[in-house]
Amino acid sequence: MALQGGPLAEHSHRMIKAKSVPNFLLRLEINRPKEAYAGMSSSSLSPVILFLSACVPKYPNFFVQFHMIIKTEISFWRTGAKFCGSEMAKREGEAVCVTGGSGYIGSWLVRLLLERGYTVHATVKDLKDEKETKHLEDFEGAKSCLVLFQMDLLNYDSIVTAIAGTTGVFHLASPCIVDEVRDPENELLAPAIKGTINVLTAAKELGVRRVVVTSSISAIVPSPNWPADVVKNEECWTDEEYCKQKGVWYPLSKTLAEKAAWEFAKEKKLDIVVVNPGTVMGPVIPPTLNASMLMILRLLQGCTDVYENFFMGSVHVKDVALAHILVYENKSATGRHLCVEAISHYGDFAAKVAELFPEYKIPRLPKDTQPGLLRAKDASKKLIDLGLEFIPMEQIIRDAVQSLKSKGFIS
Ligand SMILES: NC(=O)c1ccc[n+]([C@@H]2O[C@H](COP(=O)([O-])OP(=O)(O)OC[C@H]3O[C@@H](n4cnc5c(N)ncnc54)[C@H](OP(=O)(O)O)[C@@H]3O)[C@@H](O)[C@H]2O)c1
Repeated sequence: MALQGGPLAEHSHRMIKAKSVPNFLLRLEINRPKEAYAGMSSSSLSPVILFLSACVPKYPNFFVQFHMIIKTEISFWRTGAKFCGSEMAKREGEAVCVTGGSGYIGSWLVRLLLERGYTVHATVKDLKDEKETKHLEDFEGAKSCLVLFQMDLLNYDSIVTAIAGTTGVFHLASPCIVDEVRDPENELLAPAIKGTINVLTAAKELGVRRVVVTSSISAIVPSPNWPADVVKNEECWTDEEYCKQKGVWYPLSKTLAEKAAWEFAKEKKLDIVVVNPGTVMGPVIPPTLNASMLMILRLLQGCTDVYENFFMGSVHVKDVALAHILVYENKSATGRHLCVEAISHYGDFAAKVAELFPEYKIPRLPKDTQPGLLRAKDASKKLIDLGLEFIPMEQIIRDAVQSLKSKGFIS
């Protein structure tokens, strides 16, 4: 795997050091016993903070960041969230936040980040729902280095609380629905676009160093006006008008969210980098299935949908998580990063599933299911150049089907 050697090898442990806050003050705060805040509300702490921030006028972000740390600590006890607690004093790994940490890709990313020595703030929609938390709490290292936060993309304060104290953010949370939706604005567009702006605003306010934004090939296709003889790449953008006409709202949500992210980054001078994964499949960690794993499950059950406006190639979930870490850790990584094992049609994918698993009644689909899409190997050149060795389609399918079987989704 690409983690061995190359640019992802050896994550060096780094002290938590929020920008603009003197290190000794952060350490002081982190080492403080939790009893020190018992019974105190964040507002009753404000005079103390005001006094302290007045003492250090040299550090303009001090007030906000100090306040956030205290608010975060209080929220741990209130919500009963898992946290490093007294072990906080001992933690040495760099802290990063993963929004949508309970999701399909998010779970893999949290797991790999923990393995690499990071302290992870992962967001879930409902802390009381075991289906969102248990699989994360079971990870090795979770006890000491995973902190779960309840977050709603449209609730700015909940985002600030999750990001406070971190130096990097991986923004994955976004509704992922390829089936028809009744209310595109509320089900897809608002959480994707406003949610992204909320996350970036909080990251900027808290002095986060780099944000990795999870976009999608759905911000690249459908793009019917792209030149027919040129392989699609990071220069290509989804056609917004086409999406509106055809009522394909998920690609529109990802396109507008990514465009809003680039605009924000340029205007506010925030360092962001984008990953654009294809259809993500492979082993499943959460107890429920996400939209892309549902696609292969339905295919195995005989579904004939060809996902004309949604497919551009497949990618292993572990490679997607690795791609996120690669672009975060490599300061030379800039811009968008197409993340597919190859550009292919859904018809190619379905034919390979049928070849590998003849025991299922896989429908025969036309070969060219994505009109005009030129096939290409090594299409994700930017990630390959950063050291990612993509797992081929055959293995993606084997891992996905094996996982569906072992979790009881198919027999
Ligand atoms: N899977 C793919 O093939 C694929 C391909 C390209 C890009 N992506 C992108 O990758 C990211 C993760 O997708 P995934 O496949 O891992 O899907 P997923 O399992 O559905 O994960 C999405 C995550 O976002 C959270 N979320 C959704 N709406 C939210 C809201 N309003 N407030 C707070 N959290 C919210 C979800 O929480 P709940 O689980 O509680 O709803 C979930 O944890 C998304 O941005 C998606 O667009 C996915």
